[in-house]
Amino acid sequence: MALKLLIVDPDEAWANQAKKYFTDQQYEVTGVVNGKEAQLSLYNNSFFAIIINWATENHSCMQVLKFIKTSSTNQRVIVVVNDKKLFEEAQMTEDKLQKLGVAEVAFKPFEMGLLKELLEGHQSLSDLMTSVPKREGISDETEVALTDENFSKIKIEEFYSSQAVLFDIYIKLSDNKYLKILHTGDTFSKERLDKYKNEKKVEALYFHNSDRRKFIQYNNFLTKKLIDNQNVPAYNKVNILKNVTEKFIEEAFTVGVKPQVIDQGREVCENVYQLVESQPDLYSVLRSYQNFDPTAYSHAFLVTLYSTAIIKQFEWQSKATIETCAMACMFHDIGKTLLPKEFINLSQRDMTPEQLEQYKKHPELGFQILENNRGLNNNIKQIILQHHEAFDGTGFPFGKKGSKVLTLANIVCLADDFVHIMIDDKLQPTEALRKILTDKVGVKRYNSILIEKFIKVFVDPDKIHKEQALPSNSRIVNKKVS
Ligand SMILES: [Fe+2]
Ligand SMILES: [Fe+2]
Repeated sequence: MALKLLIVDPDEAWANQAKKYFTDQQYEVTGVVNGKEAQLSLYNNSFFAIIINWATENHSCMQVLKFIKTSSTNQRVIVVVNDKKLFEEAQMTEDKLQKLGVAEVAFKPFEMGLLKELLEGHQSLSDLMTSVPKREGISDETEVALTDENFSKIKIEEFYSSQAVLFDIYIKLSDNKYLKILHTGDTFSKERLDKYKNEKKVEALYFHNSDRRKFIQYNNFLTKKLIDNQNVPAYNKVNILKNVTEKFIEEAFTVGVKPQVIDQGREVCENVYQLVESQPDLYSVLRSYQNFDPTAYSHAFLVTLYSTAIIKQFEWQSKATIETCAMACMFHDIGKTLLPKEFINLSQRDMTPEQLEQYKKHPELGFQILENNRGLNNNIKQIILQHHEAFDGTGFPFGKKGSKVLTLANIVCLADDFVHIMIDDKLQPTEALRKILTDKVGVKRYNSILIEKFIKVFVDPDKIHKEQALPSNSRIVNKKVS
């Protein structure tokens, strides 16, 4: 069943072009040229979305928006503006339109692809599932020549699909050469995947980056179901959550932190919370977790997971606190996207003094990127700004000290350092923890209470042995990590 779209534009040629484009994209399109016809269509039909030109006449765009607001609160509306200058001269702003229920504003000139992207950003998983053109059976394999940077990779054994495949699935033949093995709308074929896995020893599947959002949505949904399933081992749950978080962070790093990206992030955080909340053996997974690959994206996922696990040890923890912190963790290094590319995976200790200076700006850059983003609350932004501040005042950018450093920011700092040690030194989680604990100077970077709680992430409280020296300001001196 195709999603219905209403296009309202006085420029008939443009409206026809848009109509053709979206019909090719599987939408069912109604095109009208004035506001009166638009209202009539809205009255008689329900649309997935409406794309209306700001210059619409014979019932202006504003009149139509007011009509929508009084008759249907959930109508997704995209306003197209021909001339930004005229729009501003009319004292109009995107903010004002948003208050009238407009989801997006697009200023001409733009490629039709932009409108497609804006629309897809507002599709829920059920919209997506109903709009996929379903076919019986599976289509033939087709070879495509697209460069490697167009694709996202996923391990073949970690790929799950709904009955109808929601996006095209590829295998890699050689550099810049891919074979589409499942097409959007095909009936999912485990046999075809198994054929590649077992006979051709294929280890990874690929999907086009433009389908990353669909991957995230579907996997968020799947994770939710899996977390509730007692029969699925914690390790598998963590892995699928890791995949979806990584792809989410990749999306945020490449397309920016748009409202729809934030919504998906909230779902990811919710799933992280559910996982930590409902999984008694999660700590043993965190203790033995070995499946790391040192990319910026898995880094952010691991910081999220370990920070969440630390907060869980506090009595004051709540779902809201954990989700705030998890959200901050996912975006904590987003400021690095404004640094030269080589910084993404560069370790602090390998930097020249000049690079280090530049690197130290990333918390503030991250804060700037998100400052005006209304989807993220101020606590999240402050944690991002402070995630390199240290309890002993040796951090950056402000050198804040003691209680001046937000506890949640200090938790992120600890989890961040821990993940860096684990990845950079290729250490097991418990070895990385030991390294933090035995560094008498370095350990002062964290509030000692956090260190106590972090130890408990790895050790059952009643299994903590005496002897291990902890920082002098610790409340549980003389206890040891097993
Ligand atoms: Fe950072
Ligand atoms: Fe980091």
